[in-house]
Amino acid sequence: MDSSRKPSAGSGGDLPADELRSALRRAADLAADYLEGVGDYPVLPPLAPGELAAKLPAAPPRRPQPMDAVLDDYRELIEPGVTHWNHPGFLAYFAISGSGPGIVGETLSAALNVNAMLWRTSPAATELEERVCDWLRQMVGLPAGFRGHINDTASISTLLALAAARHRLPGAAIRERGMAGRVDLPPLTVYASDQAHSSFDKAAMTLGFGLEQVRRVPSDDAFRMNPAALAASIAEDRAAGRLPVAVVATVGTTSTTSVDPIEEISAICARERLWLHVDAAYAGSAAICLELRQLFAGWEAADSIVMNPHKWLFTPVDCSVLFVRDVEQLVSTFSLIPDYLQSAEQGVTNLMDLGLQLGRRFRALKLWMVIRAFGVDGLAERIREHCRLARQLAGWIETEPGFELAAPVPFSVVCFRAVPPGSPEEQDRFNERLLAEVNAVGPIFLSHTRLRDRYVLHAAIGNIRTTEEHVRQAWELVRDVAGSLRP
Ligand SMILES: Cc1ncc(COP(=O)(O)O)c(C=O)c1O
Repeated sequence: MDSSRKPSAGSGGDLPADELRSALRRAADLAADYLEGVGDYPVLPPLAPGELAAKLPAAPPRRPQPMDAVLDDYRELIEPGVTHWNHPGFLAYFAISGSGPGIVGETLSAALNVNAMLWRTSPAATELEERVCDWLRQMVGLPAGFRGHINDTASISTLLALAAARHRLPGAAIRERGMAGRVDLPPLTVYASDQAHSSFDKAAMTLGFGLEQVRRVPSDDAFRMNPAALAASIAEDRAAGRLPVAVVATVGTTSTTSVDPIEEISAICARERLWLHVDAAYAGSAAICLELRQLFAGWEAADSIVMNPHKWLFTPVDCSVLFVRDVEQLVSTFSLIPDYLQSAEQGVTNLMDLGLQLGRRFRALKLWMVIRAFGVDGLAERIREHCRLARQLAGWIETEPGFELAAPVPFSVVCFRAVPPGSPEEQDRFNERLLAEVNAVGPIFLSHTRLRDRYVLHAAIGNIRTTEEHVRQAWELVRDVAGSLRP
């Protein structure tokens, strides 16, 4: 240990309390200054691959370094080198924000550093997680039977849901016997629309269904799963001796935020005894707004639902809530208690029983702070405003010659493209150049998708700091750049 920095009594080898206080105060200033000025950065950092790595020492320091020096480097090197997801001009993918209350929650959960695997290993983390998930359930209007718990991402929540669906198969005993080499077990099939997120395929790969057993059901003109095609696909698989297991329906698909017809899909699942998982990773938060609830009609019949507060509820990454209608389905799928984790408390939730992971972060703290600090009405207002801004942008696009909307706009994402004269392939190339040139300017970052094989620009409004002015600027930039590219 450096002789210039003696540990003070009580801190062991850690930062003495006064140094911690001053480092945290400086970190608080860095965070607040960052959020206040984030709009002055270009959204994408002007960095070439490897440029930052070249500035970082190849080997770790052998001697302690003062936190002030570390924070100086954070300010100089790291902050300007990130892509600024908290920037009001970040309109790519699903735009998100780690809001102030969520940042405070993250900080304090790091200070507590509890591992809420068992109730005993953190009663408050366990009980707050249960309470805050139940708040969320009420906020989005799900019935009382649904129980929520928090995972890192929707990918993991969907994996857990499909594992529970597989476990529920009568007589399959996959938990005990596995799947390999079993002549008594036909191929297991799973279904989602051709617009569903790739986390569905990854879950099928991981669980041993295999990509060949993944059915991508065609979607209609508005990118919604076609229920008749779903029913036909299930019938075909049954006739061929395969065993359908689960359907994933999406409210708010990744490309266009389309909404699958949940009521019809859930009727098929009930008839066929299939697990219905609803992926509302992005759009679930919008169910807080009563006027948007009809887009979720039927989701209360699902066996499981995932929604990500880290996508559209102003909660820092990561935070994904998996709701299940019958929590025992998760417990019987995953509970496995080695002797050293036996605990005497009765009637408590041990969160490790609900999924794959043992150790878990105290994510409920930040979500609790976000919900309390903004209030349910405040959250609804922010989401409502994002949807209004998206409709506004869609309106400008619709009335602009040379542009077209590429999909309906049910939430806060607008898919559109320029349509200069030329073949579809030439138009695709034009839109690719348009996106690259717009993103190179700095104040906004848009992403793209492909719809029916056409290249389409994707503008997502979900950042708490994004205002009408930012959206207008973004649109004017797109229009101007398109004008300069046209022959
Ligand atoms: C509809 C949908 N589901 C799932 C996911 C995966 O989310 P995560 O990054 O939390 O795994 C995404 C990601 O954007 C998504 O759009």
